[in-house]
Amino acid sequence: MTRIAILASGSGSNAESIMKAFENSNIIQISLVISNNSNAGVLARADKFNVPNVVINSAQAKEGLLLQALLNSGADYIVLAGYMKLIPKSIIAAFEKKILNIHPALLPKFGGKGMYGENVHKAVAEAKEKESGITIHFVNNNYDEGAILFQKRVALSSLDSYKEIGAKVLKLEHEFSPQIIEKTILNAAH
Ligand code: GAR
Repeated sequence: MTRIAILASGSGSNAESIMKAFENSNIIQISLVISNNSNAGVLARADKFNVPNVVINSAQAKEGLLLQALLNSGADYIVLAGYMKLIPKSIIAAFEKKILNIHPALLPKFGGKGMYGENVHKAVAEAKEKESGITIHFVNNNYDEGAILFQKRVALSSLDSYKEIGAKVLKLEHEFSPQIIEKTILNAAH
């Protein structure tokens, strides 16, 4: 069994799509959900799927508690599903090529510091882009710069508000993230 820890800061709809996809899997188990935010919706979603969940704030993460929790959980992989904090370098070193991030745009465009959540869709709308999409990539020490595993595009209308762009992108995230996570894990095993 390959164990995945999910890190999420907010509502957790992506975390839910992943927990649901692997609920009855005999190769992948979501073993832990960690949030930096005690009010995050993702915690109740984890409870719903009987997935253990904890809050580790960013100060605690910097002190090494996040790495400790990940190691204690026996996680083989880490999936960032709407995690809005920088991952400490010690974790990136301990989980090389084992951390995947779901980004709500077509990297390298609309990535980097400050480009997360709604900010991304606002920037895409402002730039009058004709398309947006999702990028699933490995995490390295620079925001949104690790090797790209998968991208999927979606056409935008000039009438789309940033909220409509966000809804189109989120739909792609829910549809594709679980299968790309599974594919990445299976490919690495061969
Ligand atoms: C998702 O769109 C995810 O791609 C984005 O935050 C949203 C979380 O939604 N992540 C980032 O911006 C990270 N840089 P959710 O909490 O409903 O899954």
